[in-house]
Amino acid sequence: MNHPEENVDETTSKEEEDNLAYFLDFNPPKEDFLNDVLEGLSKDQKSLPPKYFYDAKGSALFDQICETDEYYVTRTELSLLEDVGDDVGRLSGAECNIIEYGSGSSNKIRLLLDQLSEPSEYAAIDISKEHLLRSANSLAKDYPAISVGAICADFLQPIELPEYVGQGDGAFLGFFPGSTIGNFSSAEALGFLTSAHSLLSEQGSLLIGVDLKKDTAVLESAYNDADGVTAQFNLNILTRINRELGAEIDESGFEHVARYNKEHGRIEMHLRSKQDQQISIASHLFEVAEGETIHTENSKKYAVEEFVDLAEKAGFESNRVWTDSDELFSLHYLKAA
Ligand code: TRP
Repeated sequence: MNHPEENVDETTSKEEEDNLAYFLDFNPPKEDFLNDVLEGLSKDQKSLPPKYFYDAKGSALFDQICETDEYYVTRTELSLLEDVGDDVGRLSGAECNIIEYGSGSSNKIRLLLDQLSEPSEYAAIDISKEHLLRSANSLAKDYPAISVGAICADFLQPIELPEYVGQGDGAFLGFFPGSTIGNFSSAEALGFLTSAHSLLSEQGSLLIGVDLKKDTAVLESAYNDADGVTAQFNLNILTRINRELGAEIDESGFEHVARYNKEHGRIEMHLRSKQDQQISIASHLFEVAEGETIHTENSKKYAVEEFVDLAEKAGFESNRVWTDSDELFSLHYLKAA
């Protein structure tokens, strides 16, 4: 298998890579983190880009969120995948080339790999490098018949795949679980779907998990778990700023807030300041008033038809939609045709 030496990150130990067909690192440079943080904190409504949640600690906390009782998203999607994997296998055909956006721990894809018809390749794309390498490697070990590659990238930027990705005889199958699409603004969601549509080419398709609109109480408790894991996850972005950008923000001066905004159909997450305080980052000073918030993430909830409309705008054709019996969550199979 091809191994593009020039793209292999030197800091990665050999064992970590050994099982992978390739590792591509498009990691955004550190200056972007600093600039993004300074830019976000300079706005009237202070904000931080959610992609920075996922350092090693944040990725581990996210896995823990997925196991809380309140967060129905992961278990509902997993059980849906178990139920519909066969159908997906029939629709996507034999020897497909899978590309997963935001592979995280690569758990969900295992359910699919077990049910698809002789999948050829699996490319895992994620922004969190160490986590990505660990997960992709363990997957490669468990599925020796599949060529497994890892791509460290921000998938909000259009990705160009080298030609050695997608050598299997079948079509491309994009996989974008977890309702991560809901964390994008509507412009970003449309942009993402449009570039996924062009990357997957004519015969390809996209299997995407989309969380559904539902009762406010159910939604709000999913993002306010009783054990405070989501709160830790939210606050961890401050810890990361301290460590990587040399700031000294007092994490205990902020609290986690997550509320459902019915008008926009989305959960909005913030860090709320418990007191008047100053934050200093790389010799920039920011005043934060008591009760003022830093917006960290949205999680948009879609009605089935609302999401189909969006996918069609990006050029996809809706082929199948599955939901669980409680209509909590949906899986859409979109054709790139
Ligand atoms: N895509 C997930 C969602 O919106 C991400 C997520 C779950 C999340 N829980 C979170 C993001 C808590 C930030 C904080 O449901």
